[in-house]
Amino acid sequence: MTMQRSITAFSFALLASLASGIFLVVQAQQNPGFISIDCGAPNEYIEGEINIKYETDEGFIDSGENMQVSSEVIYTYEQQYSKNLRSFPDGMRNCYTLRPDRGKNITYLIRVVFWYGNYDGKNQTPSFDLYIDVNYWTTVVFSTYYCEEIMYVSQADDIQVCLVNTGKGVPFISALELRPLDSDDYRLGSGFLQLHWRYDIGLRLNSFIRYPEDVYDRIWHGENYTIWNKLNATSAIDLFVNNNAYKVPGKVLRTARRSMNASTPMKLQWPSITTNKWIVYFYFMEIERLTSGQQREFTISMNDNQFTETVILEYLKPIVIVSTPVSGWNITFSIESTNKSGYPPILNAVEFYTIGDLPNVPTAQDDVEAINDIKAKYHIKRESWQGDPCVPSKYTWDGLICRYGNPPRIIWMKLSSSNLTGEIVSSLSHLSTMEYLDLSNNQLTGAIPETLARLQNLRYLNLSGNNLIGSVPEALKRRVLNNTLIMSLTGNANLCQADPCPQKKKPKKILVPIVTSVSGFLIILLGALAIVWLIKQKRIAESSERTLTLKNQSFKYEEVSRITGNFGRVIGEGGFGKVYLGTLDNGTVVAVKVLSESSKQGYKEFQAEAQLLMIVHHRNLVSLLGYCDHSKHMALIYEYMANGNLRRHLLVDHPKVLTWSKRLQIVVDVAQGT
Ligand SMILES: *[C@@H]1O[C@H](CO)[C@@H](O)[C@H](O)[C@H]1NC(C)=O
Ligand SMILES: *[C@@H]1O[C@H](CO)[C@@H](O)[C@H](O)[C@H]1NC(C)=O
Ligand SMILES: *[C@@H]1O[C@H](CO)[C@@H](O)[C@H](O)[C@H]1NC(C)=O
Ligand SMILES: *[C@@H]1O[C@H](CO)[C@@H](O)[C@H](O)[C@H]1NC(C)=O
Ligand SMILES: *[C@@H]1O[C@H](CO)[C@@H](O)[C@H](O)[C@H]1NC(C)=O
Ligand SMILES: *[C@@H]1O[C@H](CO)[C@@H](O)[C@H](O)[C@H]1NC(C)=O
Ligand SMILES: *[C@@H]1O[C@H](CO)[C@@H](O)[C@H](O)[C@H]1NC(C)=O
Ligand SMILES: *[C@@H]1O[C@H](CO)[C@@H](O)[C@H](O)[C@H]1NC(C)=O
Ligand SMILES: *[C@@H]1O[C@H](CO)[C@@H](O)[C@H](O)[C@H]1NC(C)=O
Repeated sequence: MTMQRSITAFSFALLASLASGIFLVVQAQQNPGFISIDCGAPNEYIEGEINIKYETDEGFIDSGENMQVSSEVIYTYEQQYSKNLRSFPDGMRNCYTLRPDRGKNITYLIRVVFWYGNYDGKNQTPSFDLYIDVNYWTTVVFSTYYCEEIMYVSQADDIQVCLVNTGKGVPFISALELRPLDSDDYRLGSGFLQLHWRYDIGLRLNSFIRYPEDVYDRIWHGENYTIWNKLNATSAIDLFVNNNAYKVPGKVLRTARRSMNASTPMKLQWPSITTNKWIVYFYFMEIERLTSGQQREFTISMNDNQFTETVILEYLKPIVIVSTPVSGWNITFSIESTNKSGYPPILNAVEFYTIGDLPNVPTAQDDVEAINDIKAKYHIKRESWQGDPCVPSKYTWDGLICRYGNPPRIIWMKLSSSNLTGEIVSSLSHLSTMEYLDLSNNQLTGAIPETLARLQNLRYLNLSGNNLIGSVPEALKRRVLNNTLIMSLTGNANLCQADPCPQKKKPKKILVPIVTSVSGFLIILLGALAIVWLIKQKRIAESSERTLTLKNQSFKYEEVSRITGNFGRVIGEGGFGKVYLGTLDNGTVVAVKVLSESSKQGYKEFQAEAQLLMIVHHRNLVSLLGYCDHSKHMALIYEYMANGNLRRHLLVDHPKVLTWSKRLQIVVDVAQGT
C-alpha cells in the first residue's frame, strides 16, 4: 500500500495521531465494518495475533462501571479482553447500541464474551438474560467462561445488545463483537441462528482458526472426535482461495476425518437442550486423490430422516449442505456411504445452530427517533431509558406508557420536575399518537410551538411551572374550548393567556412564522415576508432613527409612478407583487411595493400590512414611509435597504455585513417579535 493511498483514504486527524496513525490506517482497512468492543478497557488497542482493533465502551453505552478481573485468576486464552469487563449494578436493563456502517437488512455475526475472573471478589458467577434488540436471546449461566454468538439480520440502523438483571447477580460483559457478512448464507426466513458449536474436524484440540483466515471472523475450534480417523491429504493443499461459498477458510477445509471403513457410518447424537429447532451446516471437501473414476458418495440423514441428502464429492471442490430445521429430544446425524461408493464418508467442518424466534415487534421507528431526540436534547439520564422505549413491556421507559399494537406506540409521557431546560423541542410533535403530555415544573423557555396542535389525540397537556413566553397557539385554545383538551399553563409568568393578547404583543403572530428553525449555526429563514426584512448597514441603522420621524404620507398613483421612474427598476418580488426602486423628492431612496392584480395575497392582507407597519417601529423592521391606496393601484413605500434582504444575509456567507452572533441575535429577535 502506498503512502499516497493511505492519505487519501483516511482523515488527517487519524494521521495526526502520529505513531499509531499509520498502523490504524492498516487496521481499518483490514477489518472493514467490524465493531469490536473490549468492555471495561481503559483504552483502545490492537489484539496482536488476530490483528483486530478493539475499542473501549465509549459511545456504545452510558451506564455501568469498568472493572478488572482478579489478578489471581489467569485465563488460558490470553486475550486482552478477558482482563477487564463492564458491570451493571444499576438498572434492570443496560444496552449497548451498535450502529454498523452497512446499516439494516444485513446479516451480522454478533458475539458476546463473558469471563468472570472473580472481578468482584465474591467468587460467585451471576446469571442474567441477554436480549438482541427487543427479543430474548439467551440466559447467561456459566461457571467461568461463556461465549454466545448469533447470525442476526438487523431491522433498523441500530442494533442493541441488552443485559437484563433477573435478580441472580450483577450482569457484566467482557467483549462484544459485530461482523458484517456479505451474503445471505446464514439468513433465515424469520428468526436468527444461535451458534452452539463450530468445529474444524481434524484440527487439534484447544486450537482454533479465526480472523484473518476467516474473513467473517467465525471461530473454528479443533475437536477430538477420535472415534473417527484422521484423513490424510494426498498432497499439501495450499492453493486455496477463500472465496468458496460461505467463505470457509481453506485452512479449515484441508483437514477431515472419516469413519473406520465404508460400511461404518459417521454418527453423532446429542441431547437437544432446547425446544428450538436445530440447523446443521456440513462442510465437505475431498482431499484424497481417489483411484481414477472413483468418487466418494454418501447420504446425510438427521433424526429419523427429518432431513436427508446425498452428496458426491469431487477432488478439492468444497460442498456445503445446510439441513432443514429438525427437532427432537436428542438430535442425531449420520453420514453413510451409499453402496456404489467403496469409500468411507468424511466430514471437514460442521456448525450446529438452533433457531431463535423474534416474536416482539419494536416500537414504531418514528416514535423511537423522536424519543431518542428528546432524550438527547434534554440530556435525560434515567436508568430505564435504554433500549427500545416500549418493548418488552416490562422494561418500558420510566415516565412513558405505550399502546401495544403492531407496532407499539408511545401514548403517554410524564416528564414533570425533570430539570428540562431550553425550548419545547419539535420532536415532541412527532410522537403522533400522544394522548397525555406532562412537562410541568421544568425550566422550559420560549414559545409554545404551534406544532403541538398536530398531536391529533392529545387530551391532556400540562406545561405549568415553566418559563414559557408568547401566546398560546389558537389551535390548542380551540380544543380547550370544545372540551377535547385539558391544558394547564399556570405558573408561566411571561406567557400571555389573555384573549386577545395586549396590543404590543400583536406583531408576534405575524412575525413568528418567519422563523422556522435555528439549528446550531445553520439558520434557515423562509417566508413570504422575508423580502420586507431588509438589512441595515450600521450607517443606515443610525439614520433610520431620524427617518422614522417622517410622517407616513399618502401618495397618489401618479406620484408613485414618478418616484419610481415609471416603475423602471425592479429590485425584488414579494407575495403581493413586484418591488421597485424609487427616489422621493427630498432625495430619500425608497423601495416601492406594488400590489399586482394577479397577487395571491389580497387587498385585505395588503391593508393589514400597511396598518401594522404604521404602528410598529423597530430597529430591525424596515420603516414604512408612505402608501398609495388608489382603487386598483396600491403601493407601499419603504425606506430602501441597499444590502438586500435579510434572508440572503442569513443564508449567504457575508461576514463583512453580519457576524454570526449578529445573525443569531436577529433570529432571536425575530422569534421573540421584539
Ligand atoms: C433485504 O435483503 C434481502 C436480501 O438481501 C432482499 O431480498 C430484501 O428485499 C431486502 N429487504 C428490504 C426491506 O430491503
Ligand atoms: C483427545 O483424544 C486423545 C487421544 O484419543 C485422548 O487422549 C484425550 O483424552 C482426548 N481429549 C479429550 C478432551 O477428549
Ligand atoms: C497419515 O499420514 C501420517 C504421516 O504422514 C502417517 O503416519 C499415517 O499413518 C497416515 N494415516 C493414514 C490413515 O494413512
Ligand atoms: C468395518 O468396521 C467395523 C467396526 O470396526 C467392523 O465391525 C466391520 O467388520 C468392518 N467392515 C469391513 C468390511 O471391514
Ligand atoms: C436420548 O439420548 C439419551 C442418551 O444418549 C438416551 O438415554 C435417551 O433415551 C434418548 N432419548 C430419546 C427420546 O431418544
Ligand atoms: C446397500 O446394500 C445392502 C445390501 O446389498 C442393502 O441392504 C442396503 O439397504 C443398501 N444401502 C444403501 C444405502 O443403498
Ligand atoms: C435537577 O438539577 C439540580 C441541580 O443541577 C439537582 O440538584 C437535582 O437533583 C436535579 N433533579 C433531577 C430530578 O434530576
Ligand atoms: C399540572 O401540573 C401541576 C404540577 O405538576 C399540577 O399541580 C397540576 O394539578 C397539573 N394540572 C392538571 C390540570 O392536572
Ligand atoms: C374541537 O376543536 C378542534 C380544533 O378546532 C377540532 O379539530 C375538533 O374537531 C373539535 N372537536 C369537536 C368534538 O368539536
